Amino acid sequence: MKITIFGTGYVGLVTGTCLADVGHDVLCMDVDADKIARLEEGEIPIFEPGLEPMVKDNVAAGRLRFTTDAAEAVAFGTLQFIAVGTPPDEDGSADLSYVLAVAETIGTHMTEHKVVVDKSTVPVGTADRVRKSVAAALEARGEALDFDVCSNPEFLKEGAAIQDFTQGARIVVGTESEQVKALMRECYAPYIRLHDKLMFMDVRAAELTKYAANAMLATKISFMNEIANLAERLGADVEQVRRGIGSDPRIGYQFIYPGCGYGGSCFPKDVQALARTAGEVDYPAELLTAVEAVNQRQKHTLYAKLAQAFDGDLAGKTIALWGLSFKPNTDDMRDAPSRALMEALWQAGAQVQAYDPEAMKECRRLYGERDDLLLAGDRIQAVKGADALVICTEWKEFRTIDFSWLKQQLAMPVIIDGRNLFEPEAVKAAGMLYYAVGRGDSLAAGNA
Ligand SMILES: NC(=O)c1ccc[n+]([C@@H]2O[C@H](COP(=O)([O-])OP(=O)(O)OC[C@H]3O[C@@H](n4cnc5c(N)ncnc54)[C@H](O)[C@@H]3O)[C@@H](O)[C@H]2O)c1
Repeated sequence: MKITIFGTGYVGLVTGTCLADVGHDVLCMDVDADKIARLEEGEIPIFEPGLEPMVKDNVAAGRLRFTTDAAEAVAFGTLQFIAVGTPPDEDGSADLSYVLAVAETIGTHMTEHKVVVDKSTVPVGTADRVRKSVAAALEARGEALDFDVCSNPEFLKEGAAIQDFTQGARIVVGTESEQVKALMRECYAPYIRLHDKLMFMDVRAAELTKYAANAMLATKISFMNEIANLAERLGADVEQVRRGIGSDPRIGYQFIYPGCGYGGSCFPKDVQALARTAGEVDYPAELLTAVEAVNQRQKHTLYAKLAQAFDGDLAGKTIALWGLSFKPNTDDMRDAPSRALMEALWQAGAQVQAYDPEAMKECRRLYGERDDLLLAGDRIQAVKGADALVICTEWKEFRTIDFSWLKQQLAMPVIIDGRNLFEPEAVKAAGMLYYAVGRGDSLAAGNA
């Protein structure tokens, strides 16, 4: 099939590459000329495991191409995937300007039937707005061409995006048209050989499914963080509680790790956008509001614990920071807990010595050169001469360290661990202070 993808970010590039990999002819279009130029030279603008060789192979095979030419992109694909960003507006609702701009582009250039496939995460009712935008652009040209709009939300996780795209639990398609169903089945046929994962539903249900999935996962995380904060104050070890509840198949082990809050480009904005949608239909979505509030609070616990460890005086202190990305195996720092911590530390007059295996470039892009931010070459350099260590991301390489050696490096032998990587007894045996999330010994509760 001939397929056009608008947007070459985490979702668009993975979608386009995976679809090319199963034999489709794919043209990816982006308005970011620099990104397209880099992609054409074989440089992948994001870090996503396994993506680079796959892009190169499919470009070499002639099945994957890139362009900034909107007219060429619209002319190319029978399916026109919209995979552009839907960032939060100032009021928390989803900013649909990029999605609607693509819809207008399609209406401006199309000369034959097209199926517009909404892959971006968009509020219920967006397919109607996309339809109106395409129709308005056609009308402005005096054309009355036929087209369809369907919803095909994406459930991939950054860091495991290729596996999720190719072996995901389900492929949701919102449409009522039999012709669109047949085309989408043809598009995804290579992925449903084992069993039929295609779920057809109405457009509004498909749009809501995406938000419901992310809100549910975010709820599990905030719930566990709430329990962790309680455990801290009650002198219980949340890691034992986690195993105790995760073993119940009704609950499961996934997404119940306590930590320093969820981040990334999806959960924070999608929970907010769904709450906003609820407000628009006069429904007080109290649970969603609480999930978001608990997460906001959780992101600030690392700073609060540090401040308490240093008696409220962090001015002039140097804090080593392991992990900048919002989770391992990505360079994405959108809404990352590390950012809330760094910004609070700078506000308090502290210096940050940070290391992340993949997100250093992104950190420099976001914050530029500044005296209070040193980007260290590795995790060892990051702790040298620092006053304390904080862990924000559970990258594999942070999971073991010689605590006796670490104690010698830090002016104050304290680890604030936002991801519960170590056994408290092992850290304490080396003569260090260890404050994790919900592990009994609590700074937040004032009993350190
Ligand atoms: N990142 C994820 O893990 C993930 C997972 C599932 C769903 N989603 C959703 O998918 C959508 C895309 O997310 P992302 O993380 O890939 O975003 P991104 O910011 O990484 O990429 C978006 C791309 O769209 C491009 N773009 C903007 N306007 C354009 C236009 N008019 N024409 C062509 N390209 C244009 C931008 O230049 C950018 O390269 C969002 O709605 C997001 O919520 C993201």
